Amino acid sequence: MTKRDVMIYGRYERFWHWSQALLIFALFFTGLRIHGTHSILKFGQAVTIHTYAAYALMALWVFTTFWNFTTGQWRQYLFQKGILKVIRFYAYGILVGEPHPYKKSLQRKQNALQALAYMTFMVIIGPALWLTGIIYLFYNEWSGFAWSGDALWMVAVLHTVAAFAMGTFVIIHIYMTTTGKTPLHYVKTMITGYDKVELSEVEEAYLAETKTVDMR
Ligand code: HEM
Repeated sequence: MTKRDVMIYGRYERFWHWSQALLIFALFFTGLRIHGTHSILKFGQAVTIHTYAAYALMALWVFTTFWNFTTGQWRQYLFQKGILKVIRFYAYGILVGEPHPYKKSLQRKQNALQALAYMTFMVIIGPALWLTGIIYLFYNEWSGFAWSGDALWMVAVLHTVAAFAMGTFVIIHIYMTTTGKTPLHYVKTMITGYDKVELSEVEEAYLAETKTVDMR
């Protein structure tokens, strides 16, 4: 095994990551205005920006789902063993300078806890937001029924609960990004795409021959 500087996040991966981050910030900020938490924007402005950003995010999710399946990257998110070791590390080991229990590889870029967190994001929080969001968006089409008022209230509550779950995810995610070798190490990795990864001799020879992944 040798450690090499390898492009672990390709161009499209970095593009969807940062544009998703930007859109979620915009949606949370405008969503909180619609909810009544602040009044930095006009209500109408917040609704317009929220609607455009929501369409952009849903389009991005469609492309990214396609990318995940066509590149085989979806396998990165599958459940893996060792989650308790990772939880123990973040709760205790990190405070006393223990090494991280997980070694990054090209096949598994994420540790067990990360994979579970991203899976929750993709199959629970994300779908809860776009499903309730679309129903909310098309309220005019179903506003004429006797149950419309109660249903709108339910949809708004579910959308808000999912939005706060997303907010919690983002805060924990940002804290986690500061726990690398230096506080900005992981952020730099997601900007440049490169990180040090252990490669077996076979992997190194394969990558040198096929040039399917860039190495520095
Ligand atoms: C993914 C697609 C999404 C769609 C289609 C969508 C759609 C909507 C719509 C139509 C509204 C109501 C606007 C109005 O009153 O006219 C709304 C409100 C809201 N949205 Fe979204 N949204 C999405 C994503 C998000 C995300 C990612 C967040 C936060 C992280 C978020 C947070 C909120 C909040 C907090 C409200 C206010 C809820 C209330 O108090 O009634 N939304 N959204």
